Amino acid sequence: MSLGRPNARSWYAERMNDSERLRVLLIGGSGQLGAEIVREWSDCRVLAPTHTELPLEDGAALEQALERIQPDVVVNAAAFHNVDRCEAEPERAFAVNALAVDRLAGACAQRDCVFVTLSTDYVFDGDLGRPYIETDCPAPISVYGASKLAGEQLVLRRRSRAFVVRTCGLYGVRPSATKGYTFVDRIIAQARAGEPVRVVDDMVASPTYAVHLARALRALVATQAYGLYHCANAGAVSWHAFASAALELAGIAHPIEAIASASWKAPARRPRFSALANGRLQSLGIAMPSWRQGLCDYLTDRVTRGLTS
Ligand SMILES: NC(=O)c1ccc[n+]([C@@H]2O[C@H](COP(=O)([O-])OP(=O)(O)OC[C@H]3O[C@@H](n4cnc5c(N)ncnc54)[C@H](OP(=O)(O)O)[C@@H]3O)[C@@H](O)[C@H]2O)c1
Repeated sequence: MSLGRPNARSWYAERMNDSERLRVLLIGGSGQLGAEIVREWSDCRVLAPTHTELPLEDGAALEQALERIQPDVVVNAAAFHNVDRCEAEPERAFAVNALAVDRLAGACAQRDCVFVTLSTDYVFDGDLGRPYIETDCPAPISVYGASKLAGEQLVLRRRSRAFVVRTCGLYGVRPSATKGYTFVDRIIAQARAGEPVRVVDDMVASPTYAVHLARALRALVATQAYGLYHCANAGAVSWHAFASAALELAGIAHPIEAIASASWKAPARRPRFSALANGRLQSLGIAMPSWRQGLCDYLTDRVTRGLTS
């Protein structure tokens, strides 16, 4: 159902009976991050049409949604972020991750509505050898990274009420819509099944729990300090060390074989060291928990939410 179609009005009417709270239009509400924004931004009235109801690339439907909903804040948590498929489909990558984001940012600027959009550590080449800060020069090595960087720059050039927030290695209770699984769950499942577990040890990131990111985004929006931010769980860790910590915290004794990323034949190149430092966020008084705390909270939440034992 598109918002432009006849039954769109009932979708709108159903969701529009609370005029007190900050009104938020969330694109990508069924994803890893989007699902946690719906849960965590409970002080807001979050309207989250599905991908089918409101495709990011459909400029006319977006205009209609903005006109009808009159949001105070629009959050874009949608992207074409299958990194390997982006190599084969660069037109689609730029259409979704850059041009559609720019169009939405423009529509928000026209209405003086706050715009929040997510970007990625993949805007960097990963050769710096330390966590990236916001002023480091981006140098994407994949179509995905280039398309996200283009999206960032198109938004930031407007100097409007917009937040561009780069995150890294996102995982959540809701599996990635792109991958269909969560990295941590897959490692745990393989270990429990007694299968061999192999994880790269020469790629370093700041794996980020979607709940922590959703909370930080809410705090960031409240600051009205618009601009470019890094927002990832604090610290840098190899994927092998992260997987080892996941098994240790889950109480599972199982070996994890360290493999080199070169043995992983993928169409897209990925940065070797793409941890992010959250300097600007910290200067606003917003502290991100460590990657280990993210893992602890994730393992607890997946049990308390009844998703696993
Ligand atoms: N995942 C990571 O490791 C990672 C790392 C760094 C940055 N990021 C960025 O963080 C953001 C959130 O990522 P995520 O992992 O939460 O994504 P996700 O789990 O793949 O969820 C994406 C959401 O967007 C929807 N969507 C996809 N394409 C759309 C389109 N063209 N129009 C409207 N809705 C669309 C999806 O709906 P359907 O499932 O129905 O298609 C889903 O609800 C993205 O900007 C991504 O680039 C992610």
